[in-house]
Amino acid sequence: MQLDVFTLFPQWFDWFRSQRHVANALALGHDLSCVNYRDTTPLSGGQVDDTPFGGGAGMVLRVDVVEAALRARYGVDPAELPSQRRVIALTPGGRMLDDALVDELAAERALTLLCGRYEGFDERIVEHFTSDAISIGRYVLAGGELAAMVVADTVLRKLPGALGHEDSAQEESFTAALDGAPEYPHYTRPADHRGWSVPEVLLSGHHERVRQWRLEQSRLRGEQQSLDGPAGDGA
Ligand code: ADE
Repeated sequence: MQLDVFTLFPQWFDWFRSQRHVANALALGHDLSCVNYRDTTPLSGGQVDDTPFGGGAGMVLRVDVVEAALRARYGVDPAELPSQRRVIALTPGGRMLDDALVDELAAERALTLLCGRYEGFDERIVEHFTSDAISIGRYVLAGGELAAMVVADTVLRKLPGALGHEDSAQEESFTAALDGAPEYPHYTRPADHRGWSVPEVLLSGHHERVRQWRLEQSRLRGEQQSLDGPAGDGA
């Protein structure tokens, strides 16, 4: 996978790159590169944003700035890019990230993630240069960088070999193996701590009973999450 992140803060990703599963993925031949909008801005003084037409607070990332950065990186008209590779704008108004979307992204050969700052993007960036827009939750971050890391983290850990154990990402929260429900609880030694004991079934050595118990716990957690109310589907 070839991952390009367009940002005003490429240095934030130095830390991210050093995380073990990310480093594993990179060692396997995957690539994570950062492109700084400021390096190619056609405006003087490194300017990348401007005040919104119609008034209002904050600054908006300019379409000509993003066009210049994409053109310099890919050598094509950025309006042609979405038909060539998956270009994603990170914005609170985008499609909500979930495990199914992560699977979809992990199957891509290349991804481009565009981070917004301030009030976000000039809408023409999203409309003409991207294939889709993704949100990581119904709250507003100061910029898209943390969201890009979340997307990159969730995608890279799905790539074979990134986690070390091939099956680590198979039966976990929200996967088809658990019918889309959250994962069951885990316990390790000691079996008793201050009288808080591990469920008996997990110590039984009875694999089928353990499997049934875990599925049931996962299902119950899913039910509880539905009762707590949706955080992601806008209901
Ligand atoms: N940029 C700012 N807030 C965001 C969010 N919730 N998801 C994705 N990108 C963002």
